[in-house]
Amino acid sequence: MKNKYLYIETFGCQMNVHDSEQMAALLTDSGYKQTDNMKLADLILFNTCSIREKAAHKVYSELGRLGKFKEQNPDLIIGVGGCLAQHLGTKFHKRVRHLDFVFGTHNIHRLPEMVASLQKKREKITNVDFHKSLNSIGIYATPGNGSISAFVTIMQGCNNFCAYCVVPYLRGPEMSRQPEEIISEITRLAADGIKEVTLLGQNVNSYGKTLGNGLNFAALIRKIGKLSGIERIRFTTSHPRDLSEELINCFAEEEKLCKHIHLPVQSGSNRVLALMNRGYTVEEYIKKVDNLRKVCSLISITSDIIVGFPGETQKDYQETIDMMEKIRFDSTFSFKYSERKGTAAEKLEGKIEDGEKQRRLKQLQALQDMHTLEKNTELEGSWQELLIEGKSKNSESELMGRASSWKIVNFKGNPELVGKLVDVKITKAYLHSLRGKLIEEVGNVN
Ligand code: SAH
Ligand code: SF4
Ligand code: F3S
Repeated sequence: MKNKYLYIETFGCQMNVHDSEQMAALLTDSGYKQTDNMKLADLILFNTCSIREKAAHKVYSELGRLGKFKEQNPDLIIGVGGCLAQHLGTKFHKRVRHLDFVFGTHNIHRLPEMVASLQKKREKITNVDFHKSLNSIGIYATPGNGSISAFVTIMQGCNNFCAYCVVPYLRGPEMSRQPEEIISEITRLAADGIKEVTLLGQNVNSYGKTLGNGLNFAALIRKIGKLSGIERIRFTTSHPRDLSEELINCFAEEEKLCKHIHLPVQSGSNRVLALMNRGYTVEEYIKKVDNLRKVCSLISITSDIIVGFPGETQKDYQETIDMMEKIRFDSTFSFKYSERKGTAAEKLEGKIEDGEKQRRLKQLQALQDMHTLEKNTELEGSWQELLIEGKSKNSESELMGRASSWKIVNFKGNPELVGKLVDVKITKAYLHSLRGKLIEEVGNVN
């Protein structure tokens, strides 16, 4: 029988990246082989994102290009999943005529059934119901390509309803996975050669609340820390309001927990934070950062910031800049506020004009670049333990690894080191990466 090929394109966050891995795993079981070449594909899936208007536009424009593929190959099946699919439902079929099926964030497990039905009969399918089960997040999937780092979803959905955000509407209510299931998945990953796991959830700090068994996120980390084979634990994303002292202490006590936290602050103005419904003040946020640095002086702290939220005055914006000066993040993702239908912020007064948002963003990013380079430069001369991910992007003859801080380090080394933990000395800092030198004893042949 001729091989059937699957092409998946992923938009959006790490959660979507992992969802795509799960989609690929399920369809491999149904006889598909994954390809990087869209032209070869018998089945094309777009795993979509709707977080900002720009993200949605990108999906539309790339989907538009698929029409000609379908003309050339009428047997081609095209499906869309993820958050934009959840958002639009049947409307997606009206907007993009060449789609065969649309499935939402709770329906990944039904992919094989939808594809099998389309192979028999071409009738458009839409599956965007929410379910109380966690079927869609428990699918076993490794990243493939010999990678040694894997994602593990520990919870679904979000109950926070930050005023700007569509996620709670698109991923449903918060629900935690049973710890036994998480542990057994990670044990299996370790047996498959995985050394680093990243625990995924929209708000991992509230892990366990829906389980009612007293087990919280810090306790889950301690359990995972005991599993043999797993060398490193990461997690994303943490909500500052729910960051407990117990979890902060894990950074000192749990050796395998990487010294990095992504802690989105969003704004430095208490007035804006309240409008955003974030549930903390700048002072509370700074206190948590201080405590993190107290227990773990080397911890790298990264964040997300939104500029131009409705009603954000020049003074509010300046408070964000002041907060950044005070904290000095290792790096930040920053965004212009993007209005999303159905969110609380849509109804707020005082929308900021795009040119002004752009100006604020540019200034903020220039400041962050300065801080990032400063923070990276502080590491020159230090020793860093790296998990080697593969060849360097810049040079075939070099390797790339990540420090515990999540920072990228390039260095000369033997390709046999891929997948291993090694120590390097940092020789030079740049804005987006570091350069390192290996010590001879760990097998450098250069
Ligand atoms: N649950 C995670 C991730 C949310 S999405 C968290 O709470 O951190 C990632 C980032 O996108 C958010 O932290 C926020 O900074 C940004 N974002 C979300 N909605 C947005 C919007 N409508 N406009 C601009 N940025 C937005
Ligand atoms: Fe969105 Fe807020 Fe939930 Fe994050 S915590 S997904 S920003 S509602
Ligand atoms: Fe986008 Fe959904 Fe992630 S909206 S950022 S793909 S949770």
